Amino acid sequence: MNKPFKIGIAGLGTVGAGVVKILTKHADVISSRAGRDIEIIAVSARNKDVDRGVDLSGFYWVDDARDLANYDGLDAVIELIGGDSGIAAELVSSALDNSRHVVTANKALVAHHGYALAKKAEDNGVSLAYEAAVAGGIPIIKSMREGFAANEINAVYGILNGTCNYILTVMRESGRGFDEVLKDAQDLGYAEADPAFDIEGVDAAHKLCILTSIAFGVKPDFDALQNDGKIQGITKVNASDIAYATEFGYRIKLLGIARSIDGKIMQMVEPCLVPVSSPMGGVEDVYNAVYVDGDFVETSLLTGKGAGEGPTASSVVADIIDLARGFDIPTFGIEADKLKDASWVNMGETSSRYYLRFSVIDKAGVIADISSILKGQNISIESLSQRGHDEGRSVPIVIISHESKHAEMIKAVSLIKELESCTDNPCLMRIEEL
Ligand SMILES: NC(=O)c1ccc[n+]([C@@H]2O[C@H](COP(=O)([O-])OP(=O)(O)OC[C@H]3O[C@@H](n4cnc5c(N)ncnc54)[C@H](OP(=O)(O)O)[C@@H]3O)[C@@H](O)[C@H]2O)c1
Repeated sequence: MNKPFKIGIAGLGTVGAGVVKILTKHADVISSRAGRDIEIIAVSARNKDVDRGVDLSGFYWVDDARDLANYDGLDAVIELIGGDSGIAAELVSSALDNSRHVVTANKALVAHHGYALAKKAEDNGVSLAYEAAVAGGIPIIKSMREGFAANEINAVYGILNGTCNYILTVMRESGRGFDEVLKDAQDLGYAEADPAFDIEGVDAAHKLCILTSIAFGVKPDFDALQNDGKIQGITKVNASDIAYATEFGYRIKLLGIARSIDGKIMQMVEPCLVPVSSPMGGVEDVYNAVYVDGDFVETSLLTGKGAGEGPTASSVVADIIDLARGFDIPTFGIEADKLKDASWVNMGETSSRYYLRFSVIDKAGVIADISSILKGQNISIESLSQRGHDEGRSVPIVIISHESKHAEMIKAVSLIKELESCTDNPCLMRIEEL
């Protein structure tokens, strides 16, 4: 038997404790699969005295997690603290400097600093593994870097945040509003006490940024997503939009989409309408799904639980087993020096069918004003319906457009908003025929 593969674990929360649990429970089978024992040598977290539901008595306790970076005899450091700066970032960076492999579930860190860390790993002859960072238990990083390696990828998109998918599912099933359902999700432990990263789309954007890098061989560039306003969460989706979408045969899903268009990349995170009958339309509750479109493989859908102790720790342990076997693959599928700077599609030039909803005062001539604005922006209407009739009062109008240019649709929405009869902020969502 080969000598044991020795690891130190930083962070013993949901994921860290789960990793200890799996490595303890499945020690024998993991050892056979890895070809050697995997030994936890040292662990670290903020508070030594917390009962974490796992037996830590056989491991050295390290007060400052950063000390694991040069802890004697470790082959790999498992970073399960989180955050794109601070202790987690310092630990990962110095562990790689010290030629220790790193396994992390930290999507924020990989999305923000992936390129520099990949270079550091290569310069020091070690690996940075992060399967658990994207879509929890779904082996999407392995699939993209290995399984689909023969293909030119046309697109990768998915439901990448389980909290948002849960909220949208419950809003549809119960007809309740966003705030109320978010509160339930927090009570059930599906949403963090501070849910901003989830509901504002930032968490999904971190994951999309990583997938984009592997799919198209470009440096991960989170700022390009954020600074260009390509991240929208679900906070503005209301119960009536969900009900109207259902009437038209659609579900509303928070999608992360990356597509290659004429050598440039289109990248965005937005709530979109997808057909109920499509594979994405059937992915509900806390489930994630990632769709990959390659030139030879055509389309593949991977689905499963995107978060939680078991699924996430399962992916972390899979990475540890790979490293123990001596498996080595560049962080983003190709050497860091070969990753290109992406050239991004101008979103205004993209086109789509759209769902548009706004409220107007119910009076003669309003529909004609709206139709004229849409016509002026070259937008043709597939269907327009006024929901109810209440002379002189505000009523919702729902429009489904034919394929329209994004810039023209945005212009039309801003002109509709300026109409005296328009009483609220219009809601605009793409319709993605996935
Ligand atoms: N939870 C999920 O479903 C999930 C899914 C995918 C990816 N992830 C990623 O996995 C990572 C861990 O998430 P988690 O849910 O397990 O978080 P968590 O439950 O909040 O656990 C974080 C752990 O880090 C420790 N920690 C925090 N600050 C520290 C510091 N300054 N020094 C040392 N230890 C520190 C905490 O110590 P104490 O316990 O002593 O406070 C805790 O054990 C994050 O990057 C997250 O994005 C999580």
